[in-house]
Amino acid sequence: FAEEQNYQFLKNRHFIVTAGPTHEPIDPVRYLANRSSGKQGFAIAEALQKLGAKVTLVTGPVYQNTPDRVERVNVETAIEMEKAVENTLPADGAIFTAAVADWRFNYSPSKYKKGRSEPDLIPIENPDILSNISHRKIDRPSLVVGFAAESENLLENAKVKLQQKGCDWIIANPVIESEDAPSAMGGDYNKIFIASHAGIENWPLLSKKEVASRLASKIADYFNLINE
Ligand code: CTP
Ligand code: CA
Repeated sequence: FAEEQNYQFLKNRHFIVTAGPTHEPIDPVRYLANRSSGKQGFAIAEALQKLGAKVTLVTGPVYQNTPDRVERVNVETAIEMEKAVENTLPADGAIFTAAVADWRFNYSPSKYKKGRSEPDLIPIENPDILSNISHRKIDRPSLVVGFAAESENLLENAKVKLQQKGCDWIIANPVIESEDAPSAMGGDYNKIFIASHAGIENWPLLSKKEVASRLASKIADYFNLINE
């Protein structure tokens, strides 16, 4: 009943949320990964759904329960994630929380054996899903939001990413511990800045669930404003 009472501000809106790490295979037993837990993206998917949105959650390998009424698409690699996102278009909004691996490797179908072979770990750059979706001529979602994982110069780097990736908002979060905040990677808390063409918002340290519900409200405001 409580959920029925929630105003359906995002009814008839479709969102894509990406979450988690990607895994880039090296050989049948090895892969490149990162510390992303998927928590922030899953919480955002849940919060958007609670405001009445249709949500497609494209996620890398994580240990998270699928939120109620959210459509989940599991992927492993960055290339698979990009295809899944493209197959999900059109959408009103796309929120890119995934920690997509920046590089993949040539896959060796036989296992590398020590002493006999050295792994070919020459990095091949992965497609930038956020940038590609932002720069689309057709089916560009009207709100495209990226996250920036930064170990230093958080704001400066976020502003550069906002420009280069062509998105509407960049949410900058620290990925190393400081006096103000723990690392966003893997933990339950997040201390974010939101950079947009309107300027910078500085949010307090919040749980990832709280970040998600406030962000969903901000997104609902955005769509209600462009409706008028
Ligand atoms: N992203 C993406 N596809 C990639 C790399 C990143 O969609 N291949 C998205 C992430 O989901 C995030 C944003 O781009 O929303 C920024 O990711 P981040 O790793 O902070 O930035 P990069 O552009 O990859 O730069 P770097 O890692 O060098 O800081
Ligand atoms: Ca990156």
